[in-house]
Amino acid sequence: MAADCAAQGAVPGGFVFYTNYGSNKAQAIAANPRVSLLFPWNEIDRQVIATGTAEKITVAESAAYFMSRPRGSQIAAWASRQSRPVSARAMLEKQVQVLRDKFGSGEIPVPDFWGGYRIVPERIEFWQGGEHRLHDRFLYSRDGDGWSIEQLQP
Ligand SMILES: Cc1cc2nc3c(=O)[nH]c(=O)nc-3n(C[C@H](O)[C@H](O)[C@H](O)COP(=O)(O)O)c2cc1C
Repeated sequence: MAADCAAQGAVPGGFVFYTNYGSNKAQAIAANPRVSLLFPWNEIDRQVIATGTAEKITVAESAAYFMSRPRGSQIAAWASRQSRPVSARAMLEKQVQVLRDKFGSGEIPVPDFWGGYRIVPERIEFWQGGEHRLHDRFLYSRDGDGWSIEQLQP
C-alpha cells in the first residue's frame, strides 16, 4: 500500500485498522499475531470471518491516516492510554484540554504509540443463514496468488 494512501477497512493487501500500540489488542498481537476478524450482520443473517496474520503498517502510512482525521480525534489519540483504567471522565477531559493548549493551532504529530495494523487474510468465510439451520458457508482459502473456494456444511 502506498504511504500516501490514508485508508482503513478492507484495502488492497488486507484489512487495516488503527489503535494505540499499547492497547490490550496490541499486546495480544505482539504475543501472537495470528488473529481473526468477525463481521456479524445479525439483521441480514450474514457473517464474515477472516483469519490471518497481523502486521504493523509503516509509520508513514499511519501518519497519512492520522493527518486525515479530525483534529478532535487526533487530540483524543494523544489523550488516551487505551485499555488502561481512568478514575473519571473528567480526567480524560482535563488531559484533552492540556493537549489542546500544548498543540495550539499547529499541526498535531502522529503519536509514536499509535498506528495501524494490516491483517493479511489467509482464510475468509462467508456465512449466510438458511432456513432450518441449513446455512450456506463459502470458505475462500489463499492459494498462490488467488483463492480456492469450498462450500462447507452448516
Ligand atoms: C465505530 C467504532 C469504531 C472503533 N474503532 C476502533 C479503532 O479504530 N481502534 C480500536 O482500537 N478500537 C476501536 N473501537 C473500540 C473497540 O470496539 C474496542 O472497544 C476497543 O478497541 C477495545 O480494545 P482494547 O481492549 O485493545 O483497548 C471502535 C468502536 C466503535 C464502536
